[in-house]
Amino acid sequence: MSEEVVRKGLAGVVADYTAISKVNPDSNSLLYRGYPVQELAAAKTFEEVALLLWTGELPTESELTVFSAFERANRSMDSSVRAAIDLLPLDCHPMDVARTAVSVLGANHPLAEDSSPAAELDKAKSLFAQFPSVVAYDQRRRRSQALVEPREDLDYSANFLWMTFGEEAAPAVVDAFRVSMVLYAEHSFNASTFTARVITSTLSDLHSAVTGAIGALKGPLHGGANEAVMHTFDEIGIRKEESREDAAARAKAWMEEALAQKKKVMGFGHRVYKHGDSRVPTMKGALDAMIAHFDRPEILGLYDGLEQAMDEAKAIKPNLDYPAGPTYHLMGFDTDMFTPIFIASRITGWTSHIMEQRASNSLIRPLSAYNGVDERHID
Ligand code: COA
Repeated sequence: MSEEVVRKGLAGVVADYTAISKVNPDSNSLLYRGYPVQELAAAKTFEEVALLLWTGELPTESELTVFSAFERANRSMDSSVRAAIDLLPLDCHPMDVARTAVSVLGANHPLAEDSSPAAELDKAKSLFAQFPSVVAYDQRRRRSQALVEPREDLDYSANFLWMTFGEEAAPAVVDAFRVSMVLYAEHSFNASTFTARVITSTLSDLHSAVTGAIGALKGPLHGGANEAVMHTFDEIGIRKEESREDAAARAKAWMEEALAQKKKVMGFGHRVYKHGDSRVPTMKGALDAMIAHFDRPEILGLYDGLEQAMDEAKAIKPNLDYPAGPTYHLMGFDTDMFTPIFIASRITGWTSHIMEQRASNSLIRPLSAYNGVDERHID
């Protein structure tokens, strides 16, 4: 096989069709089932967006009522999941906890080996309802806090924050969280979604595919970038009383030094979007709302300083993880919980792709070009 046919990283390779989302880097747009993501973030709940991704259409009022009732009734942490989490060390990465929890949920699901469309949709909805309790409990146990039971009177986002912090979040915080959930939900054939599709293509089950996707999401070149952004902010130093201008100046100096050392700065750049990530303006709006709500202008200074210095030096634009990291920080989440939160959202996209892959399956099995030693023999 000749060298030219090798496409490292599958860059530029169109692997299959999908009707779930459309990423258009030229027009800087992202559509979920045809709807611009910023319109969905402005007007729809995460529950509605989940149903849109799974079924192809926004739900009617009665469909939404039925799903909301199911979701609210299925939020409690399964006792076997709690037992499995409790076996894991407090200093392991929360993504390891998330991966383990999904695996346990799969083993316990009554339809574990049933991959019919109805069973898959049921599993997707259950996972959607159950996963927030994993993230919330894991953050609490690391802070030596007791588990907080879910509240059926709160919607998905408000309940997620309730279970994590044990107090009702302000409406502005709930809304910023909802926006982040909508924006993170789906993004075509990214590494974790493709992983889920590869696993599904072997006719494996939904929970195995999601577990594998979590492994792919953990890496800092993918989902782990939102955590890495916060590490950058921490390295520069967050000084609560500092002015926006002073924080921006320190951030700019940090970025210039990092680029001089040829460092890759997390939260910038994208494999598909080369002129800016379509989700960033909406997520930046949510970050601005949190900066105003918590009165933390120095965070805006750090944000602007890094962005401007990167733009001036390399014209590389921020991706969604850049505004999402500091938003979750301001809400009170520990940094290593950011990627598990991403999972809670992306479960919708992954499971939609799993169902789409299964409905029109072909085993995903690329070729490789051998570049090892020539044939040789044992003499
Ligand atoms: N910081 C510094 N330089 C960067 C950069 C970043 N975040 N992202 C890209 N570049 C530079 C590369 O070093 C390269 O420069 P060179 O031509 O001088 O070698 C150039 O921009 C092209 O980048 P490349 O790595 O080819 O782009 P890619 O499409 O392979 O990579 C990412 C895309 C996402 C892997 C890459 O931008 C990255 O590592 N970003 C940080 C991780 C991140 O935020 N991931 C979340 C994605 S949603």
